[in-house]
Amino acid sequence: MAYDTDEQDLPPVTDWVNDWDWLDDQWGPNAIDIWNEVREQCPVATTERYGRAHMPVTMEAVSEVAHDTEHFSSIFVSVARPDAPRRPAPPITSDPPDHHAHRRLLLPSFSPKKIALMEDDLRQFCRSLIADLDGAERADAAEQYSQHIPVHGICQLLGVPESDADMFRDWIFRNFQIGPRDNAVKQQVQEEMDAYHEQKLNERLLDPKDDLLTLIAHAEIDGEPVSMELKKGYVGLQIIAGIDTTWSAIGSGLWHFGQHADQRGALVAVPNDDMLWNTATEEVLRYYAPVTMGRKVIADTEVGGCPVRAGEQTLLTFPAANHDPAAFEDADEFRIDRAKNRHVAFGLGIHRCLGSNLARLELTVALQEWLRAFPDYELDTHTETTWANGQIRGPRNIPVLLNR
Ligand code: HEM
Repeated sequence: MAYDTDEQDLPPVTDWVNDWDWLDDQWGPNAIDIWNEVREQCPVATTERYGRAHMPVTMEAVSEVAHDTEHFSSIFVSVARPDAPRRPAPPITSDPPDHHAHRRLLLPSFSPKKIALMEDDLRQFCRSLIADLDGAERADAAEQYSQHIPVHGICQLLGVPESDADMFRDWIFRNFQIGPRDNAVKQQVQEEMDAYHEQKLNERLLDPKDDLLTLIAHAEIDGEPVSMELKKGYVGLQIIAGIDTTWSAIGSGLWHFGQHADQRGALVAVPNDDMLWNTATEEVLRYYAPVTMGRKVIADTEVGGCPVRAGEQTLLTFPAANHDPAAFEDADEFRIDRAKNRHVAFGLGIHRCLGSNLARLELTVALQEWLRAFPDYELDTHTETTWANGQIRGPRNIPVLLNR
């Protein structure tokens, strides 16, 4: 598809402390090494590529920013060109005092009880994807498996048709991989999403059903109807936040276990409700945390002792904090039985992930069903895995030998 673009042409990064760029080709495959190298030199790196923007890499500095809504606003949740088009998608783009009401509206749909009811259907869905691989010797565990599971989950929860899944995947790719440097693409994606969401919300206003789309269509705060603009934002957020975040986590887990036969064996040997599944999935979330957020600095302050000024931007590098040796013993070791694991893959503070129950369920069910079907699968190291850059980091293809 061709777009009008005003893409910035930027040279490859050679200095990650003073000129970082989360859309640089080195970021996807090497982000963990990059954060570790930066952390050895300073707690906060900077760049001028998106205006002046900061990148904290320690747990302490990331936590400082996440808990400080006085100096850091969620009006910019992605570090992008300062003139990038941005639309509200509450609660993630809202600050106190508005944030609380938006979050409270959506919260009941994500309760542990509600999400637990989705397990059987998700398991069946994973089995149907596995059945589609019948007779195959190889597979792409991203394209043929992990990328479909969260789309199915969100379609069930929200009440949008699964036949639109390819369109959601296309929006997500253009929004995260091209949009931050290219305003025309970002604008176009937002317009396409807006039109779709408005149509779906209007359908539910006329014909209510038992789904999140209906709840949003009829949303009220303090007895007043929520505007169509904000309602479109709520729906867009579910699609943007609920799909490739989780497929990146599932994919990272499959990529990892495809290279560690001992860990695969240990998991296959225990029942689904064994504690080892719990510690192993939490370790996938810690080690391969896919989500990095952004904030706009709204008042001068300091982070990790470094000055930041109003108008600048900062990353909330939760995945980097998860590798801080000051916060985790042997932080760069992947331990499936790590007992003390206070990772921040789902964020910190008032914006902590609303969908974490769903994400954990999808991740666990997807790994259990795959490992039970293919206990001896392994990563095909003859084909390269490419990793997505930027806000949501994860493997985009996972070539595997099924060894059934
Ligand atoms: C492994 C998968 C996931 C990860 C790692 C993840 C991570 C995060 C993080 C780090 C935040 C904090 C944002 C911030 O501080 O600005 C967040 C917020 C949020 N996430 Fe997730 N997420 C995942 C899956 C999901 C799913 C499946 C949904 C469901 C639709 C979801 C919905 C949300 C929402 C609505 C918020 C905003 C909460 C607020 O602003 O109060 N996420 N997520």
